[in-house]
Amino acid sequence: MRTLDELIKPSVRRLQPYALTPRPAPIKLNQNENPFGMPPAIVEETLRRVAGRDWARYPDFVPTDLQATLARFAGWRPEGVVVGNGSNEIIQALLTVLVAPGAAVVLSEPTFTVYRLMVEVLGGAAVNVPPRPDFSYDIPAMLDAAQRTQAVAVILCSPNNPTGVAVGEAELRAALTDFDGFVIVDEAYHEFCDQNFVPLLSDFPRLVVLRTFSKAMAMAGLRLGYGLVAPEVALELNKAKLPYNVNFFSLTAAQVAVEMYDAELRPLVERIVRERERVRTAMDDIAWVKLLPSRANFHLLHTPRVAPAQLFEALLARGILIRDVSRYPLLGEYVRFNIGAPEENDALLAFFKDARPERLTERAAGGSASSTT
Ligand SMILES: Cc1ncc(COP(=O)(O)O)c(C=O)c1O
Repeated sequence: MRTLDELIKPSVRRLQPYALTPRPAPIKLNQNENPFGMPPAIVEETLRRVAGRDWARYPDFVPTDLQATLARFAGWRPEGVVVGNGSNEIIQALLTVLVAPGAAVVLSEPTFTVYRLMVEVLGGAAVNVPPRPDFSYDIPAMLDAAQRTQAVAVILCSPNNPTGVAVGEAELRAALTDFDGFVIVDEAYHEFCDQNFVPLLSDFPRLVVLRTFSKAMAMAGLRLGYGLVAPEVALELNKAKLPYNVNFFSLTAAQVAVEMYDAELRPLVERIVRERERVRTAMDDIAWVKLLPSRANFHLLHTPRVAPAQLFEALLARGILIRDVSRYPLLGEYVRFNIGAPEENDALLAFFKDARPERLTERAAGGSASSTT
């Protein structure tokens, strides 16, 4: 009888399993979701459209309507739009296409953990190039590492989860010009910083731009993401995607969300950005913690005097769930929280105004650090 060790790939056996202990709380600031929820007008129109569908039938084999809508929305060609069950699925398909056993992918940690996870599951090598002290990407060092390891791709999350730091256009252009592999830019949070690297796609066919409906678009529960790539890359990417990967409910909701973006969602994004700056200014008065400048819908908070696990538990005791990111590389003294609705942010600010670091009680570590979002 063969053992699990003989049957399961060593690259998978070596990985630590992800565990996410649910810690329900009335104020949920741990997964960078849209705190205002999906606007009712979008919900109603989506329900109206799906009610008229035959649920016994598969969705379209190629979601051409949504591809065309997303192409117009993002400013790219419909043949270069690949729709996935969350952008996680696009990351998985992309890396499946690129990463043969032993292939290197350069990334800069702390960053979104799914990149390393997928590279390692596929038997590739995730090559980490730490950021500069201000957490900005060290692009020259990343390009050196990419050259040295003959990497198939460099991954840049911009703005980066969990730091909130964005990559500059000049640096991205340098990467695209100097490196002959793929440059993957994950723009999951781009709406919050008005960054848009899609115009570069026509000059650089090895650029991949990833987008999601889980953050600004208020649809995390419906799982929809997309990749914008050169049409010849889309052909290859589609080979690694499961057929009928996105259900028609999510395809329809995404279609309606784009149609109603300006009226219904853009104002919410603007409110979140205003709240982000309000929270930032208010937190400047709290001497024992420090926020990193953020271009996303969350803040990374440096807490050198109170252990992240203690801060996590103290906030949870006040009904506020944040992310303890202290197990990420370089983030031993950090937590992350996303921007909530104004009253949720007020509750968070009230906690920090009242709290005395020396009085925050010692509690057991919370279990939130190992989830992926
Ligand atoms: C940078 C980044 N990319 C991708 C994702 C995954 O998004 P999706 O829900 O579309 O799979 C997340 C989710 O937290 C993220 O932070």
